[in-house]
Amino acid sequence: MKIYSVGGAVRDELLGLPVSDRDYLVVGATPEQMLAQGFMPVGKDFPVFLHPKTHDEYALARSERKTAPGYKGFVFHTDATVTLEEDLIRRDLTINAIAKDEAGSIFDPFGGQDDLRKKLFRHVSPAFVEDPVRILRVARFAARFSLPPFDFSVAQETQDLMQTMVAAGEVDALVPERIWQEISRGLMESKPSRMFEVLRDCGALQRLMPELNALWGVPQPAKYHPEIDTGVHMMLVVDYAAQQGFSLPVRFAALLHDLGKGVTPPEAWPSHHGHEELGIALVDAVCARLKVPTECSELARMTAREHGNVGRALQMRPNTLLSMFERCDAFRKPQRFADMLKASECDCFGRSGLPIIHFPQPRFLLGALEAAQAVNAGAVAQNYLGQAAKIAEAIRVARIDAIRHWREDNVTSFTI
Ligand code: CTP
Repeated sequence: MKIYSVGGAVRDELLGLPVSDRDYLVVGATPEQMLAQGFMPVGKDFPVFLHPKTHDEYALARSERKTAPGYKGFVFHTDATVTLEEDLIRRDLTINAIAKDEAGSIFDPFGGQDDLRKKLFRHVSPAFVEDPVRILRVARFAARFSLPPFDFSVAQETQDLMQTMVAAGEVDALVPERIWQEISRGLMESKPSRMFEVLRDCGALQRLMPELNALWGVPQPAKYHPEIDTGVHMMLVVDYAAQQGFSLPVRFAALLHDLGKGVTPPEAWPSHHGHEELGIALVDAVCARLKVPTECSELARMTAREHGNVGRALQMRPNTLLSMFERCDAFRKPQRFADMLKASECDCFGRSGLPIIHFPQPRFLLGALEAAQAVNAGAVAQNYLGQAAKIAEAIRVARIDAIRHWREDNVTSFTI
């Protein structure tokens, strides 16, 4: 039996990046031999074992045959005669198909090191098509390896192959959980826009998130958005969210905040009036299709609905501000409200060609919320004992007053 380090760990090591997880490949062994050495099997049919002490993953060399479209259709073939090269040839990208043995020698039969130098994502062999998740992986790797010095691009032949796979309906067979897993990981990379560009270029975005795909080519007022194209704006927005190190829910909400612009009629394009309301149903559709976790879907929905209001906050009356806090459940979930403001900030700063503009609205809204929170609801209720119907209204009035006074005291610090 021979053991190799494979996959992302070897790739990252060659790129000079830190390595956290290691995957090992075992050539020339049977499952019985692995069990006899104390390795613990993972799952029932999958030829992967955990090392008894380190708990690293050790997979038996395998070749793979496809039986049905989509992600669930795999049959693994593994036996002690499968060679290192037979295993590597069925992997996704040449840069992920490099092996290193225990003595440190590199085995690179498919030119992975060359592609690392050329900064290319290139598929190893036609076996790439066996797993459509790989389209999403390539897009996710593009989001990760996009900033200098790792500005990778997709090899033309891989781009062509991915396009063919999408046209053959491969992406349609993917289960929502796998799609979300890759999209959410890609969103957390340093340049998420690259993931969406790669998916868009091969046609996969149109299948996975047509609501987002529809934004390219939709113009918006140049005085607000110098990049004009809504799709381009969205990519600047999501990259801004990444630059700020914002959380996944904030990045996802920023990505979807303007979906409504894809369905506003051309006569509304000068202002995109009403796009916030229109966007809500589209956000819901994306989240249902991809089974997006509640934390992300709720924030995306709220940001789509409220980002225009955030922009107008400084002109709002105290009672309108209070209605916004109530609608957003900001008294019970202030952190989520603050996250919505972060996503709205991405909308403001994720644009090209403008100097950094002043955007005091989040600070303003958080200040007003704090003033309203400071109202002692219990003390107000004391004045209306036995008159339950009046208590809620009295608390509202007290909060509106608190917001008004706070604004009078702080107005100068928010002038633009
Ligand atoms: N692999 C593959 N096709 C897939 C998933 C994985 O060919 N759909 C192979 C690749 O060789 C990959 C290795 O399995 O390098 C390990 O997969 P995984 O741990 O998911 O990815 P990494 O490449 O290690 O990337 P990451 O840094 O994101 O973990």
